[in-house]
Formats: sequence, structure tokens, C-alpha cells
Amino acid sequence: MTAKPLVAGNWKMNPAAANFTELASAIADEIDKIDGVVKVLCPPTVALREVATVLEGRDVLVGAQDGHPEPSGAYTGEVAMGMLGQICSHVIVGHSERRALFGETDHVVAQKAVAAIANGLSPIVCVGESLDIRDAGDAIKFVHDQIVGSLTGVDNPSSVVIGYEPVWAIGTGVSARPDVAGEMAESIRNTLMDLYGDEAALAIPILYGGSVSPENIGPYIDRPHINGALVGGASLKPNDFGQIVSLVASIRG
Ligand code: PGA
Repeated sequence: MTAKPLVAGNWKMNPAAANFTELASAIADEIDKIDGVVKVLCPPTVALREVATVLEGRDVLVGAQDGHPEPSGAYTGEVAMGMLGQICSHVIVGHSERRALFGETDHVVAQKAVAAIANGLSPIVCVGESLDIRDAGDAIKFVHDQIVGSLTGVDNPSSVVIGYEPVWAIGTGVSARPDVAGEMAESIRNTLMDLYGDEAALAIPILYGGSVSPENIGPYIDRPHINGALVGGASLKPNDFGQIVSLVASIRG
């Protein structure tokens, strides 16, 4: 079984003066009818319910950008995976911004992935190396270790999605060369095979993320182990996001 193509839009803490309904509905108009690709919009937490309402009856899913592993308790400002599970199908965990700005370790990311799955959510587990690590020639090993660490305790990976996002490519306009991303995706696949066996590993979607645009998406999706994209900036532009989803569908769908 091969992984089903997936494209997720990570809105991050944007847009500032939001009309979430308008944006979600404009994006849904672009992508609703595109078959063969799982489509996920990840708005800020405050907009999850609103966006879920807009997407009701449409072939577009809602994802959160993060969640807390504990089921409840004194965690001011946090939202439990169980709460998200009532609204969303997916949740991003371990995005490099969370790792860098909020000190999330592989251990924490793994706890989040386990809690997400326990609450019926598909975790989009993000990994990726910094430029220093890549320049030192350690990227493959670093990401291998991140995958192993971030999936510790995940016994059944059937709902897991991996997002490979080189840190130096996120929001910079400098996307990774498709052969570089393809090589990393193959290495990630091998790590997943070691962890879960060939059949289960082949069914896990591996997404490329980092300055994805309609202009550059094609060559990534041509790589055998890249099954889709995690899109930041371009996911706020309905037309661009629509083109990305449609290109993934035409190549992989
Ligand atoms: P970008 O962000 O597409 O704006 O580079 C990707 C991400 O952070 O998920």
C-alpha cells in the first residue's frame, strides 16, 4: 500500500486581521472538488470551530497547529488533544517553530503524538535540520534521530503523517533542492521501515515543507518518497494553495 497524498496548509498565527470564514471558504472553493488528495487546513486554535463549520460537507479537513499531551489540568493557555479531537482530524506536532521558540524536545513531541493518536487525531510529526547541521554533513543522521525520538511510544503508525521541513527553508523563499528533499524522504522511509516494517512504513505520508509554491511543488512530488506538502505562506493564498493541491493530485492522485 502506498501513502495517500496529503496537502496541509499551516496558517500559523496569521492572518493578523483575520476573517477566517472568508479565507477558509475561498480556499475550500479552490480545492473542494480535487480528488485523490487529503486536504487539511490548520488555522489558529481560536478559529478551529469556525473553520470546521465552514468546511462541513466539503472534502476538506481541519487540523490544529499544536496540542497538549495531558488530558486536562492546570495548564493555563494550553488545549488538550482530547478537546481538539472533537473538532479536528489532524494536529501538527513538533513544528520547528515550536521546537526552536518553545523548547519542544523529541520527548515532548512524542508525548504529543501518542496523545493525538489516543484521541483519534492524525499527528503531522515535523522534523528537519538547521543549516548548521546540514553544512556539517549531519542532516540525515539528525533527522533519523528526530524521527526515532519523536515517535517513541507510537506503536501503531497508521494515522501518522511526517512533515520534513528543513529549518533553513521555512518562510525564507529558499526551498530545498528536490533531490536533497527526495534523499531525505527516502532516508525517513527507511527509518520508518526499521521502526514499523515495510508495509506500515510505505503507508505513512511523508510531506515536504519549506517555501512550497505552485512554481516549485512539481519536482518534489515527482520524488518517490514525497507524498505531499506542508505549506505555510502559500496556504494563505487561495489560488496558490489551490494550484499546489491540484498539481499534487495530477502527479500523485
Ligand atoms: P513556508 O512554511 O511554506 O511559509 O515556508 C512552511 C511551514 O512552516 O510549515
